[in-house]
Amino acid sequence: MADIVEDLKAELEAVAARGAELDEAPSEQKLREANAALQRQLSAALKKMRDVPKERRAEVGKAVNAVKVGLEERFEGRLEALAREAREAELSGPMLDVSLPGRAPTPGRLHPVTRVKHELLDIFQSLGFEVADGPEVDTHANCFDKLGFPPDHPATDMQDTFFLTHTDEGDPVTTLLRTHTSTVQIREMSRRPPPLAVVSPGAVFRRDDDATHSPMFHQLEGFLVDEHVSFAHLKGVLTLFLERVFGPDIEVRFRPSYFPFVEPGAEVDVRRPGQDWMEILGCGMIHPVVFEHVGYDPEKVSGFAFGMGIDRMAMVKYGVVDREGKPSIKLLFENDVRFLSSF
Ligand code: DAH
Repeated sequence: MADIVEDLKAELEAVAARGAELDEAPSEQKLREANAALQRQLSAALKKMRDVPKERRAEVGKAVNAVKVGLEERFEGRLEALAREAREAELSGPMLDVSLPGRAPTPGRLHPVTRVKHELLDIFQSLGFEVADGPEVDTHANCFDKLGFPPDHPATDMQDTFFLTHTDEGDPVTTLLRTHTSTVQIREMSRRPPPLAVVSPGAVFRRDDDATHSPMFHQLEGFLVDEHVSFAHLKGVLTLFLERVFGPDIEVRFRPSYFPFVEPGAEVDVRRPGQDWMEILGCGMIHPVVFEHVGYDPEKVSGFAFGMGIDRMAMVKYGVVDREGKPSIKLLFENDVRFLSSF
């Protein structure tokens, strides 16, 4: 019997002696591991308490308690010491390095089409034109009829588009996604008397869809109405405008062309030194029939109008071409950041 008690006491002493391992634990992790091992050894020893005779249990219990408390103190002591050491190392170590460069956010920028639009508007505003807005959904009348397109004119086929029909107090109204910004001529002139000089940028929609045509693109419309406006004014304003956009060393050429809402009508090409002619815009003297439709007297007033593709201007200005070097309007609308951030 005495052997069991003596054995147990010896085991407890061994555990207590191994407590020194706690004092030497190099990190909190190692300290916790060492403590767990000692606790396991202690509970294994305690299992033998059953075999200790009753009258000696109190004595053995005291010894067990002393070992437990001793281990606890060592564990807590070492834990505190480790925390103190870590804090001291932190304080005496090198200072926090705040000189590392931060990560700069990538600044956004305006879309090239928007940039060109602003540039074009700036030029016209400096010449005294005001900026007007018009809806992207407009009536068949504003888009075609009042501009002098005869019913079923092939140009309405060419501009065949996305029609929307609704009824207004029982009457069917044909509306559509406008095929050009010339609608704004009708809207603005119907609203107020001349003189006026207006430019109007915006999205337009057509059925076209290939490398150089997108079903949605942007136009800039312009028109000026007053007494005694002549083709010379048209030429003067547009030549000045194109020289500001493409530089003073370009050549400008006016070529007769047909649009139902102008007479005479012309297309304008520009040529940079050593390059080919590029078609840039359509223009002409506003047709008397348009004046009649908006309530102006064609005997009293005259005016000119012009329309150009803003995306086209952006492509020409920035030389937007695909991998094979072909002009591609689609690149402007794919919103690929690698492409857009190259401007
Ligand atoms: N609306 C024409 C188009 O989309 C462009 C145009 C031509 C506008 C001549 C005009 C103009 O104002 O006078 O093709």
